[in-house]
Amino acid sequence: MTFRSVIIGTGSYLPEKRMTNHDFSQDLETSHEWIVERTGICARHIAAIGEYTSDMGVIASKRALEAAGLLPQDIDMIVLATSTPDHTFPATATRIQAKLGISDGFAFDQAAVCSGFVFALATADAYLKQGMAKTALVIGSETMSRLLDWKDRSTAVLFGDGAGAVVLQVQEQTDRGIIGSLLRTDGKGYNDLHTDGGPSTTQTTGIIKMHGREVFRNAVNCLGEAVEEILKIHNISQNDIDWLVPHQANKRIIDATAKKLGLPDAKVIHTGDDQANTSAASIPLALDKAVRDGRIKKNDLILCEAFGGGFAWGSNLIRM
Ligand code: UT7
Repeated sequence: MTFRSVIIGTGSYLPEKRMTNHDFSQDLETSHEWIVERTGICARHIAAIGEYTSDMGVIASKRALEAAGLLPQDIDMIVLATSTPDHTFPATATRIQAKLGISDGFAFDQAAVCSGFVFALATADAYLKQGMAKTALVIGSETMSRLLDWKDRSTAVLFGDGAGAVVLQVQEQTDRGIIGSLLRTDGKGYNDLHTDGGPSTTQTTGIIKMHGREVFRNAVNCLGEAVEEILKIHNISQNDIDWLVPHQANKRIIDATAKKLGLPDAKVIHTGDDQANTSAASIPLALDKAVRDGRIKKNDLILCEAFGGGFAWGSNLIRM
C-alpha cells in the first residue's frame, strides 16, 4: 500500500501593522531604492505588542483547518517551525495545541531558521508515513522583529513577522501529496547568520548578525543544487513544475533559482515585496496566498525551497 501525506488545507496570518521602506529613512541611513534594488522588499508586517508567535500560529492554523473542513480535534500532531518561540521552553507548539483546544496527540517545535518549514514538512511527512499520526498541522510562525537591531541597516530592513500553516493528512493510493524532501546542513556557516545570544551562552535571545554577501553566495549555490537534485532523485523534469514556492529572503536569490530551473517568473510565487523575510513562515504564507488567489490548484506540482542559518537548506516536491 502506498501512503502519501497530502496538503488538504492552507492558512496564513499577517500582523495588522505594515511598515514600508520609507518608515526607516528617519532613523537609518538607507533608502527605499536601495532596499528594493538589492532585495525586492517594499514592506513588512510587524507583530503588535503582546502578539506572540503562538497567537499568529493559532490564527493561521484555524484558517488552514477551515479550508480543510476539519476541526481542531481532528489533529493528532503539530509541528511548529520557528526560531522565535514564545519562551525558551516549553515548545511553543504545545501552547498552540492548548489554544486550539487539542489535548490528544503530540506537538513539538523544529528549529531550522529560514528552512524551518521545509524541514517541518519533511518531518511531519515521515511521522505520518510511519503511522505515528494521521492528520498534522505543520506551521511556520515567526516574530523576527523581536530579534532585530533596529539601528543595523544591514539586517533591520530584511525581516518581517507572520505565520502560515498547512493541514497534512495521510492518504492511501493517491498521486497527490509530498513526493519527496531533500534536507541539508553545513555548520561551517554557523557564524555567517546567527543571533549573538542564547540561553546557554549569554542567557539572552541575542540579535541577528549576518555576513550578507557570504549568505547570498552560499544560498544561490546550495539552492541551485537542492532543486536540481530533488528533481533528479524523483525522475521529474523541470518542465513539469507548475509553481516554485520559494523562501522569500531576497528576490535576486529566487530569480537565480528560477533561472537554474528554466522557470519563467510567472511560475514563481513572490511575497517578499510586501512581507520581507518571515523566516520559517515565508513558504506557507506564499503557498496560502497562491492557493487562495486561485493560482495553485489541486494536482499542481509545486517545488518549495529554502536556505538560511546553520547553514540549513532543502526542498520539498509536492503534488497539491
Ligand atoms: O533567509 C536567510 C537567508 N538570508 C539571506 O539569504 C540574505 C542573503 N544576503 C542578501 O540578501 C544580501 O547580501 C543583502 C541584501 C543582505 C545585502 O545586499 P548586497 O548586495 O550583498 O550588499 P552588501 O552587503 O555587499 O553591501 C553593499 C553596500 C555596503 O556598503 P559599502 O561597504 O559598499 O560602502 C553596505 O554597507 O550596501 C551597504 N548597505 C546598505 N545601504 C543602504 C547594507 N545595507 C544597506 C541598507 N541601505 N539597508
